[in-house]
Amino acid sequence: MSEEVKEDPNVILVALYTIGLGWYCVLWAIGFLGCWAARKRYRLRPRSPLSSAAAPSVPGVSILRPLKGLDTNLYENLESTFTQEYPNYEILLSVADEDDQALSVVRELMSKYPNVDAKIVIGEEVVGINPKVNNLIRSYRQAVNDILWVIDSNVTAHPGTLARAVDALQSRTRSGKQIALVHHVPFAYSTESKIGSRIDEAFLNTNHAKMYLAINTVAIESCVVGKSNLYRRSNLERVNGSLKPIRSTDPNAKQEGLCGLPAFGRFLAEDNMIASAFWHELGYRHDLSCDVARNVVGNVSFMDYVWRRARWIRVRKHMVFTATVLEPFTESIVLSIIGALNLKFFLGLSPWIPVPLHFIVLLIVDLDVYASLAGHPLPESLRWEFIGGWFAREFLALPIFLFAFFGNEVIWRGKRYRVLRNGEADQVQPGKGRTVFSWFQRYRRRKNYELLDTEIQNN
Ligand SMILES: *[C@@H]1O[C@H](CO)[C@@H](O)[C@H](O)[C@H]1NC(C)=O
Ligand SMILES: *[C@@H]1O[C@H](CO)[C@@H](O)[C@H](O)[C@H]1NC(C)=O
Ligand SMILES: *[C@@H]1O[C@H](CO)[C@@H](O)[C@H](O)[C@H]1NC(C)=O
Repeated sequence: MSEEVKEDPNVILVALYTIGLGWYCVLWAIGFLGCWAARKRYRLRPRSPLSSAAAPSVPGVSILRPLKGLDTNLYENLESTFTQEYPNYEILLSVADEDDQALSVVRELMSKYPNVDAKIVIGEEVVGINPKVNNLIRSYRQAVNDILWVIDSNVTAHPGTLARAVDALQSRTRSGKQIALVHHVPFAYSTESKIGSRIDEAFLNTNHAKMYLAINTVAIESCVVGKSNLYRRSNLERVNGSLKPIRSTDPNAKQEGLCGLPAFGRFLAEDNMIASAFWHELGYRHDLSCDVARNVVGNVSFMDYVWRRARWIRVRKHMVFTATVLEPFTESIVLSIIGALNLKFFLGLSPWIPVPLHFIVLLIVDLDVYASLAGHPLPESLRWEFIGGWFAREFLALPIFLFAFFGNEVIWRGKRYRVLRNGEADQVQPGKGRTVFSWFQRYRRRKNYELLDTEIQNN
């Protein structure tokens, strides 16, 4: 009897530690998978034969660039679409307003590259709450080609990007599924030494990219950030964002009612939803080509960074609760503690070795991911700022999570929203709903650039 009482807690402990060990190993496996995927995909970027083919032999592409104002680096970003090595494309540059400052940059580029087929499209059509979709509707209708490449104004692409993306779009998955969308992993670079910019840069180019690549390699769910997406209008015309599969076996079957880009104006994260719609409604898959979407990070302050992460967690909490609760357990601090406790329990090792070792190996893996994406190792001039940003990111993850988890309000493009239970959001009138949030209000962000993955109600 007394023996049984003594053994019971042991069994539970062993079970707990075994689960912890399993979790620890799975997360390292995911990390290594992301690192391996980055090496395999980005270390060699072969030139596509389409780059030098004759124009009539390649599918035409319409590049849609939604513009608003003078973004950081706008000239270089736009120029990178004029210099694509691809024989058959047009560029549609859309602005909502004819006085938009971006137009002067566009006109300059059009006169510099008179041989590139580029058009300015002015005027928005309001189909929903998403300003980017409203701005793009006219270009979407005017585009002469079926393949569309929608690329944000703050993204720069290598000249070979389009040809390689078309190659990927025309391929199939290993199981024979059609590729409906080609996306590019964001790769940030910051020209400023601001602390938030450095943390953001370190985050996007290491942990974020690693996880993004791992998830897209496993490919059990659609996971796309829409900075640079290539897809077919004919496919988009068949889906409506309901994410309900089209049951009909007719290859051209479409959803009922409003379909195509106008149907996605009701989402803030339209690109995310478009990708999910291809996946769930059509049963198609996505692919990443071997290019990155180079994204200039402007001036991001420390609080900007904190708010951006907090917003993302608050939105996710209402959409995928379990995954969000598990999030701290995937972050290095908690994970290294789990690992150390296990080693102590099973092998009697002191935590002073495994915890630092955990961080050293993690940093090596992450710098390898960086090198794969960048195409070169971390430059020496950047080394300490980058590594500082990396450590700050790792140590801030848990406090930011705790802060974010116990709140519901987010700020998006200068407006406050309260995230509702089902993942939708409501705009909050100033003065209402005072919480811890109010205290932070003076740090309110004006420029946000992460998308809410929700449909919002306009009121
Ligand atoms: C999308 O199409 C489905 C079925 O074809 C329909 O049930 C649903 O109401 C549509 N959704 C929207 C938002 O139009
Ligand atoms: C960032 O801020 C500094 C001054 O604080 C300014 O000189 C610089 O132009 C800003 N950069 C961007 C990209 O806005
Ligand atoms: C990039 O541009 C998109 C829209 O074109 C915008 O939503 C986003 O905030 C911008 N990102 C950055 C880093 O400025």
